[in-house]
Amino acid sequence: MKPIWVAVAALLLAAIPGVSPGKEVQTLDELVQLYDASSCQECHQEVHAQWEQSLHAKPLIGPIGRTLATFQGYVNSRDTELKKSREVAPGTREFLKPCIECHLPQMMDASEAVAEEIAQAIVDGDEKVLNKLQITCIVCHNRNAILRKFRDGNPQPNVIYGPAFVGKHGDKKFTTAAKSEMLRDTIFCAQCHQGPNVQHYDEPMWCTSTFDSHQQFYVPMGGTQSCQDCHMSKEGGHRFPPNYQDKAQTSKRLSEWIDLNLNTIGYRMKPNAKEFIPMVVINSEVVSRIGHRFPDGCPSPNRVTLDIKVTTKDGKELYQETKTYMPQHRLGYDDNTMVYAANRKLTLIRDTSLQPFVPKKETIEVKLPEGVQDAVVEAVLTFRQLPGVPEAEFPIHKVTREVSLKR
Ligand code: HEC
Ligand code: HEC
Ligand code: HEC
Ligand code: HEC
Ligand code: HEC
Repeated sequence: MKPIWVAVAALLLAAIPGVSPGKEVQTLDELVQLYDASSCQECHQEVHAQWEQSLHAKPLIGPIGRTLATFQGYVNSRDTELKKSREVAPGTREFLKPCIECHLPQMMDASEAVAEEIAQAIVDGDEKVLNKLQITCIVCHNRNAILRKFRDGNPQPNVIYGPAFVGKHGDKKFTTAAKSEMLRDTIFCAQCHQGPNVQHYDEPMWCTSTFDSHQQFYVPMGGTQSCQDCHMSKEGGHRFPPNYQDKAQTSKRLSEWIDLNLNTIGYRMKPNAKEFIPMVVINSEVVSRIGHRFPDGCPSPNRVTLDIKVTTKDGKELYQETKTYMPQHRLGYDDNTMVYAANRKLTLIRDTSLQPFVPKKETIEVKLPEGVQDAVVEAVLTFRQLPGVPEAEFPIHKVTREVSLKR
């Protein structure tokens, strides 16, 4: 950051109240006001409209209300599963911290009374309040815009930090624009898209690990794109796809980034001198070029499935199998059982999710019944954000092959 802007900022700091570090926000209205993005709409209309459709605009509600339900479960477990939290973290703000630091980081600057109001709104599912609690422009372009504070200092109250523009800025409150290189770095997103969060927490949470997977797998495999490249630069902008409420766009993006290759052969295998076994052999290969494991994240039942079906030509089912690609976590007390949800997931038992550039190969051998010489093989690749809920299932690819043993 240029010293001149620091000086300008310091001067204006005296005159204009803003997001001052170290000063507790006393009421919910004040907190909402401080982060209100409506003034930005006037000049950044398109960005604002995109952001409103993104999940950053509803971090306590989520797609199909998923996030709210999990948050309710977490808050309600304060007196059951997590009852020792009453001793370890008597305050509500402290109790919510392991979720809120990513879902609504500005709450960490507010008073205990504000945290209690927010917890109540979560339990009541009070959307009038929850709709106002967002990861707004000001969270990303001010509060969380500077990561390396020993070098660059704290974000200044009336400065908007962007990837490029430096100078006087038209907004009434944020009158200066300064540059923060970090906005273009994956580390910026990692503030919230990272896990498991073991260090510095009284209770570790594992909501998401896209950053970790990106750093430790995608980059070592030769990947060169950043989070911003894939989620903002192309069609995304401030909409930050995927938005699991946009079915067409999600399926389209997934089919562009994940391939399904299928080979089939039909033949008579000869295991010994006398016998012939009529067989269909299916070789499938799923390849992802996504910049981290997929799926990931807190909607933990989410998975990619490969459904393989073999039928006769007139549709009689001969064989069916489903392969499941997803990270699988344990609770930490019971080694042999898989669990869901940020507040339960601990280490991985097994990870069958799609890793960048590594083909997931399956070989399936199906013996055909006596007299059957023709078969149809169907392979369907689907992303199921919520398995069994049709509006939360996204077709990726479907491949059909006819196999014949006749010459
Ligand atoms: C009166 C018009 C106006 C208002 C209101 C306004 N901006 Fe801007 N903003 C601009 C202009 C003009 C630029 C410089 C050109 C550009 O990058 O679009 C700019 C630049 C920026 C940049 C830097 C972009 C870069 O390339 O580095 C950010 C970030 C930004 N504005 C965010 C905001 C936010 C957040 C708000 C609301 C708090 C806001 N603006 C309100 C006009 C406005
Ligand atoms: C989740 C964080 C996040 C939120 C929320 C967010 N931005 Fe941004 N914004 C970014 C990042 C990161 C970039 C830089 C992208 C790049 O250059 O690769 C950016 C770039 C910009 C730019 C400059 C380039 C462009 O895309 O036009 C403007 C202007 C801007 N943001 C305004 C806003 C406004 C206005 C809002 C609220 C309506 C907002 N941003 C909300 C993270 C965010
Ligand atoms: C202040 C924390 C924060 C920052 C910074 C942030 N995000 Fe997010 N992001 C979230 C939260 C929380 C959600 C999920 C909201 C929900 O669905 O409950 C989310 C949702 C998303 C989603 C949608 C995921 C889905 O499951 O559909 C994408 C994509 C995304 N963010 C990408 C980014 C990228 C890229 C950056 C960096 C430019 C970034 N985010 C920066 C907190 C953040
Ligand atoms: C090479 C491209 C690429 C890079 C790099 C990349 N992503 Fe993704 N990401 C995707 C695609 C494609 C999807 C699949 C869904 C979609 O975008 O529609 C996805 C999915 C996600 C999801 C939803 C995960 C889920 O299981 O529901 C999140 C959150 C996300 N990315 C965040 C990030 C963050 C944060 C980074 C940087 C650390 C990043 N991505 C880097 C391409 C990329
Ligand atoms: C390290 C930051 C972080 C922490 C800690 C965290 N989350 Fe998340 N959470 C995210 C991000 C980012 C997303 C969206 C991207 C994704 O799913 O990968 C998300 C997504 C979710 C979703 C799924 C939304 C959907 O797409 O269906 C739920 C539910 C959720 N979080 C609940 C919680 C709860 C409850 C806690 C605390 C017990 C918590 N999270 C802790 C960052 C975090």
